[in-house]
Amino acid sequence: SRVEVGGFSDFMSKEIDEQPRSLRDTLAGRVDQEGRISLDELNITQEELKTIQKVVIVGCGTSLHAGMVARYALEHFVRVPVEIDVSSEFRYRDPVLSPTTLVVGVSQSGETLDTMVALSEAKASGAKTLVVSNVVGSSMARMADAVLYTRAGPEISVASTKTFIAQIGALEILALYLADLKRTLYPSEVNELIGRLNAVPEAISVALSQIKEYERVAQRLLGYDRFYFIGRNVGYPVALEGALKLKEITYTPSEGYPAGELKHGPIAMIDEQAVVVAIAPKGALYEKVLANVEEVRARGAKVVLVVNEMPAGHMASDDDVFLVPQVHQLFSPMVDVVPLQVLAHYTSVARGLDPDRPRNLAKTVTVE
Ligand code: AGP
Repeated sequence: SRVEVGGFSDFMSKEIDEQPRSLRDTLAGRVDQEGRISLDELNITQEELKTIQKVVIVGCGTSLHAGMVARYALEHFVRVPVEIDVSSEFRYRDPVLSPTTLVVGVSQSGETLDTMVALSEAKASGAKTLVVSNVVGSSMARMADAVLYTRAGPEISVASTKTFIAQIGALEILALYLADLKRTLYPSEVNELIGRLNAVPEAISVALSQIKEYERVAQRLLGYDRFYFIGRNVGYPVALEGALKLKEITYTPSEGYPAGELKHGPIAMIDEQAVVVAIAPKGALYEKVLANVEEVRARGAKVVLVVNEMPAGHMASDDDVFLVPQVHQLFSPMVDVVPLQVLAHYTSVARGLDPDRPRNLAKTVTVE
């Protein structure tokens, strides 16, 4: 039996709705009058941060996907190599770390055992550690050298939504902070990007105003067997996240792939029972993603596009579209994920499932 929460039928829909505020609160107060960024609890000196040669991001599930998104901004803005790994893999692979490595653990709860052990082993090896967590005083927040809190408020639904967006926001702030310190961007560029970041909460609100349209699309997809989410660059982690949400709360076979990998195997799975959801924000790789869409359409897939405007000349009559506002390309995952969350939520409720309580899953995994 599902709960009524504040006019919403479940926590997940309430938390999806709270996303603009979660991001706004996470960004607020981190930039002073002079445009200088400040972080929460940073027991690493600015001198130490300037010497960082490599960033390693670890996390699980949705938190890992947020880290994957941030990698693009860290490499592009800070020009520092970034590795990303699943926490449970990182700890057993004898990683190469040093005092000039910054290991960033991303964890909503701050209690996920695999991420906690990854961070503590990194710390023991002499690397600097930073955690992005939504829970003040969580185990990881107490253990790491530095903490950057997301201010999303408590997340109850097992499927993460608002904390994903807040984690990306916090990590983008970290990237801009490091770019400012290392002078890989001019102060004026940092300010310009902060302005672009501050525009994202409103873009999420605009996306949320389209929920009814997104649900009409989701309704047309109810009869399909399998979902393949594809994207390039920052669209790739969005694809992984879209597939994870759908798996978690609807048990529908779903996969996320880099769009360019399709022809190396997965395209063999495409038939009339498959839906391909392509994340194609405006930007350098827009045409490339649409070319990959042509390939799956030719094999009979039902195509759904996540785009900033109707792609005239690139659509077939039975394609469906999730329209989302355009923001800076590196920030687009925070907007593009919204229709995918709605797709998963709608499908779950339409099938009589409880989106807040997926089978076999716990909100926080404190065992290995
Ligand atoms: C998200 O929808 C999942 N329930 C799950 O992947 C989650 O993100 C993961 O277990 C990590 O949790 P954490 O952020 O609390 O460390």
